[in-house]
Amino acid sequence: MNKKVQILEVGPRDGFQNLDEYLPLEQKLKVIEDMIEAGVKHIQHTSFVSPKAIPQMKDSGELTKILVEKYPDYDFFALVPNLYGARSAYELGLRKISYVLSLSKSHNKANINRTHEESFEELKKIMDAYPDMDICVDIATTFGCPFEGKYETEVVIDFIRQLVDLGAKEFSLADTIGIANPKQVREIVSAAVKEFPEVEFQAHIHDTRNMGMVNTLAAIESGITKVQTTLGGLGGCPFAPGASGNTATEDLVHMLNEMGYDTGIDNEKLLEVSRYQKTIVDGNFSGHLVNIIS
Ligand code: COA
Ligand code: ZN
Repeated sequence: MNKKVQILEVGPRDGFQNLDEYLPLEQKLKVIEDMIEAGVKHIQHTSFVSPKAIPQMKDSGELTKILVEKYPDYDFFALVPNLYGARSAYELGLRKISYVLSLSKSHNKANINRTHEESFEELKKIMDAYPDMDICVDIATTFGCPFEGKYETEVVIDFIRQLVDLGAKEFSLADTIGIANPKQVREIVSAAVKEFPEVEFQAHIHDTRNMGMVNTLAAIESGITKVQTTLGGLGGCPFAPGASGNTATEDLVHMLNEMGYDTGIDNEKLLEVSRYQKTIVDGNFSGHLVNIIS
């Protein structure tokens, strides 16, 4: 059993993007820096998307500039939906992005206003324009869609194959609306890992139906070693009705540390950051530890 699990914190993007009130840059910065201090080594700190679509991310340029200058060797990465976003990230010095599209055609349209073909073409353009960019393809709605329901494992594998044929080397399999169950996660993740041994996979699970932890664990036990989570379980998707928070980082780290996995994170410190975050953010927290009164 592989005992190392890489925790990719995506709260500053997936969590903050859903807040009603704009969270000032200084407060975002404090949460991010405190998480770094607690041992978090990989952070999706923002997204380069239309500020009309997601006003919370309007400070992505400024935030990136500050972070890249202050922490030149740190593993920051940003979500982008198109070449425009990839260019903005690249020009600010970022060399790692999550390129988002959805397995669901209708969610792809609602979220980024593209057909699958257009999203594939855009990915190719990004790979051609920035060959030194580390790209993880985030497949939203891998485990089911608010508009289309669930998919057979073969549908997921065929979709991944088309992207591998384009040159994609890493994927995040996202349960955008928290509709998956552990059996389904095991089936899809095992099939993907077996079918594409040269490709890396991450899991990104939402906790809408209280299965965030079991589904993330199912993904890990099926061969995934990188998982995306959010501090406090803050999160949701503005274009997926009913989506709620992600698996909470500190809850997952607590469980994994207890199980003897190596996450490299000081969870007491991380929990303090989560408690602090809760005092400044009026959001949807699906975490449990953060709600325990200490
Ligand atoms: N960053 C900032 N602005 C962008 C942009 C980007 N990556 N891509 C496009 N824009 C701007 C364009 O300049 C244009 O601006 P204008 O209205 O001032 O001329 C406007 O957005 C529309 O551009 P267009 O290419 O026609 O995009 P669209 O209207 O088809 O929208 C997206 C497509 C992808 C830009 C938009 O749907 C989006 O940003 N979605 C993000 C969704 C998201 O983050 N969801 C949650 C995370 S999964
Ligand atoms: Zn998400």
